[in-house]
Amino acid sequence: MYSADDFAQAPAAPHPDLVRRLHEVVGDAGLVLDAEAQAPYLTDWLGKWRGRAALVVRPRDTAQTAAVVRICHESHTPIVVQGGNTGMSGGATPDASGAQVVLSLSRMTAIRAVDPINNTLTAEAGVLLANVQRSALEADRFFPLSLGSEGSCTIGGNLATNAGGIAVLRYGNTRDLVLGIEAVLPDGRVWNGLRALRKDNTGYDLRNLFIGSEGTLGIITAAVLKLFARPLGRATAWVGAASIESLVGLLADLRASAGERLVAFEMMSHDSLALVLQHVVDTRAPLEGAHAFHALVELADTRQDGLDELLESALGAALERGLANDVALSRSEAQSLAFWKIREGISQAQVRAGKAIKHDIALPISSLADFAHRAEAALRALRPAVRIVNFGHLGDGNLHYNVLVPADTTPAALAAETALLNRVVHDLVSHMGGSISAEHGVGQLRRDEMHHYKQPLELELMLRIKQALDPNQLMNPGKLL
Ligand code: FAD
Ligand code: MLT
Ligand code: ZN
Repeated sequence: MYSADDFAQAPAAPHPDLVRRLHEVVGDAGLVLDAEAQAPYLTDWLGKWRGRAALVVRPRDTAQTAAVVRICHESHTPIVVQGGNTGMSGGATPDASGAQVVLSLSRMTAIRAVDPINNTLTAEAGVLLANVQRSALEADRFFPLSLGSEGSCTIGGNLATNAGGIAVLRYGNTRDLVLGIEAVLPDGRVWNGLRALRKDNTGYDLRNLFIGSEGTLGIITAAVLKLFARPLGRATAWVGAASIESLVGLLADLRASAGERLVAFEMMSHDSLALVLQHVVDTRAPLEGAHAFHALVELADTRQDGLDELLESALGAALERGLANDVALSRSEAQSLAFWKIREGISQAQVRAGKAIKHDIALPISSLADFAHRAEAALRALRPAVRIVNFGHLGDGNLHYNVLVPADTTPAALAAETALLNRVVHDLVSHMGGSISAEHGVGQLRRDEMHHYKQPLELELMLRIKQALDPNQLMNPGKLL
């Protein structure tokens, strides 16, 4: 990670007229001019990217956001939209030009409405995901989106990246959890699409143009989110298995026996677990002995009775069938939390262990095992001592198939190794009908890879939409497209 003194260089000198006009809109509280104060906005959570900003602007509400965008539109000042800055694709980091304004939604933190009868909650973009989850519980409802970054990421960023997380298996991606949005367009006009309707067939689904657009089509300033019944009952278990094939078989059995009550199925390799146990405090191995692969599985329902028995009998059958070699059923909330701490600790463990070449891939679940074998063989042919960290949301067909490289790898060597290994992994994913970005988005990390693999017609359609909505290319230039 970078420290503030890395940014000792003076921030770019923005045009005085721009500063004056923006200050008139957002005041002292909404303008960040000083290098030290700007630093956290200029690098990402991974410390992989850093940039310079003409200004960091933090509008308080939609009207201020729209006024800021109008001023930037008139002065042709590019905007980089930022929420919690936890993105993994470099989408929220300005470039090195110093010409861009970072527009942070972090001050727009109002929960505008909660409607338990309609099962909806309207949140502004800067509300932390954890706070949306809490507001739902206070209304005796449940908002299911859950990521390891939920204490820092914002709803606006979740929509902009169509975030996935650990509950996609049961509730879908962020896109599936949104009924309406409010957005500020690149020309500063406000589109109020905050309808709380589950049915509205009046033309194109404009909402879904902005969801997943990573700040390149406009600024999401609020959203109507779906709420669900609270899962008062939970049953959690840790499973040790010999192969991904076994875990794919276990997933199929659990889906057949538990149906909608299966809410999470996370996988990690032996080496991923070892990394967490080495780098994350207060974690210990959930099972005795070594297992090539592990899974954290969870059932949930509106009531507890029968859940533990269902999970116990399903995993008992898996042990008999050889799909599992060992199982630890959680006997308490504390034990379940200890299991989840291990799973959610992988991101942090990778950062502490060195540098990672990340692959956030999606494949049909039936192809995952074959992919893992072929990818490992191909990587080992190139790098016999390669350190693969293979984990992810098996239930969604989404693997984080990462390669660890030593912390002292130079940027140039890392770039060369990334290009080489990306080609191996992404060619295989593409050949197997998969996606090179399952949930983290494209940002700047995978922009060129996306251009390499996306069909020309799809790229043409996306560029036409971009041209129609942001003809001056002001929104997050260089990201995604
Ligand atoms: P930022 O990082 O601030 O921005 C992300 C992108 O969205 C940028 O392109 C930015 O320009 C754009 N953007 C932000 N706000 C808006 C807005 N209001 N309007 C328009 N564009 C906007 N991701 C997953 O999908 N699944 C996971 O399981 C997961 N786990 C994580 C675990 C850890 C420990 C960490 C650090 C990250 C994890 N992430 C995961 C990645 C990240 O948390 C998500 O991508 C999250 O949705 C980003 O939200 P944010 O508010 O931090 O967005
Ligand atoms: C996760 O599943 O832990 C996240 O997507 C973050 C990561 O990939 O490191
Ligand atoms: Zn993930």
